[in-house]
Amino acid sequence: MTITKIPIWLDCDPGHDDAVALLLGCFHPAFKIYGISACYGNSSPEHTHYNARSLLTAFGKANDIPVYLGAQKPWVRKPIYAPDIHGDTGLDGTDLLPKPVGEINEKSYIEAVEEAVEDADGEITFISTGALTSIATILRERQHLKSKIKYISIMGGGFSVGNINNNKSAEFNIWVDPHAANFLFSDREIKDKCVLTPLDLTHKAIATNTVMETILGSNPSNLRRMYYELFQFFSNSYKNAQGFEKGPPVHDPITLIPLLELYGLESPSNIKYSYKRYDLDVIYDEKSDDLGKLIISHEYPDCGCTGVMVGFDLNIEYFWEQIYFVLNEAEKSSTIELIDSGKLSTSKIDELKNN
Ligand code: RIB
Ligand code: CA
Repeated sequence: MTITKIPIWLDCDPGHDDAVALLLGCFHPAFKIYGISACYGNSSPEHTHYNARSLLTAFGKANDIPVYLGAQKPWVRKPIYAPDIHGDTGLDGTDLLPKPVGEINEKSYIEAVEEAVEDADGEITFISTGALTSIATILRERQHLKSKIKYISIMGGGFSVGNINNNKSAEFNIWVDPHAANFLFSDREIKDKCVLTPLDLTHKAIATNTVMETILGSNPSNLRRMYYELFQFFSNSYKNAQGFEKGPPVHDPITLIPLLELYGLESPSNIKYSYKRYDLDVIYDEKSDDLGKLIISHEYPDCGCTGVMVGFDLNIEYFWEQIYFVLNEAEKSSTIELIDSGKLSTSKIDELKNN
């Protein structure tokens, strides 16, 4: 089947870098986003769900893309959030996030994802930019979906770098629910579909001052101002919490870029995606100093179809070009121009509701 658009589902915990992944998934012409599930992680599931709906409202897509409550807590551990990086709401740093419009979807995310997977006829990629609890729960409860998902693209893990534990031996998305991660990476049918984007790669996608000034532009719309303010907050957090002097690593949107090559929609010479294929073990003993650490248990030939595909490099300039492109696209449909001090005009709310 020749794919012109990559069908995706985005499970995320917005989250400043999740907000950039959402922008890319919603406005890049290569993707068809079936739905979004907001899970706990950077903040509580109530906050991440609100943030996802607010971002879609800002994009003018509140009535086009459904948002569901995703996983509410880890399989075994207690939920731990990341206010040191993302603030108490998970998306601190701007007053320009609009009050979400549109109805809240009461359907369970598991049911919604099953419908999307069935409709996409074996071609869908499930993108996970938060804890792995949602996708692990879906595949534990609905085992028949394993064969119908093409890829699971994950932001998670770190091999030469880490951002959690006193010894920085692990990465937050894996660490927050290591049991869910272990379920995915130890399942023979699931692991070979996983495309992992670890910190080793995402730490190359730094939002420098040049990047942030390009995001702002010379005559900034409110949407640009919103993203610029979010990046500024994110930058200060990463500088104070992890010593990033040149700017914050924008982890989550990177998960979409390898798909352009894997689905044959972009030339490998443009993406320059470099990866290894591994079997991975996850340390899930909560008493371990290395809780959440990924251990490489076997390396396979890169050209094969076995093992988790772990990305270590890609064309970062190409990545930023995609972000600048989708920001331009988003401005064409953004409702945020009508917002005055964080709320939509009543006439705009009525118009959106009646669309
Ligand atoms: O460790 C970075 C990851 O944890 C990113 O996905 C960030 O948004 C947080 O979820
Ligand atoms: Ca995230």
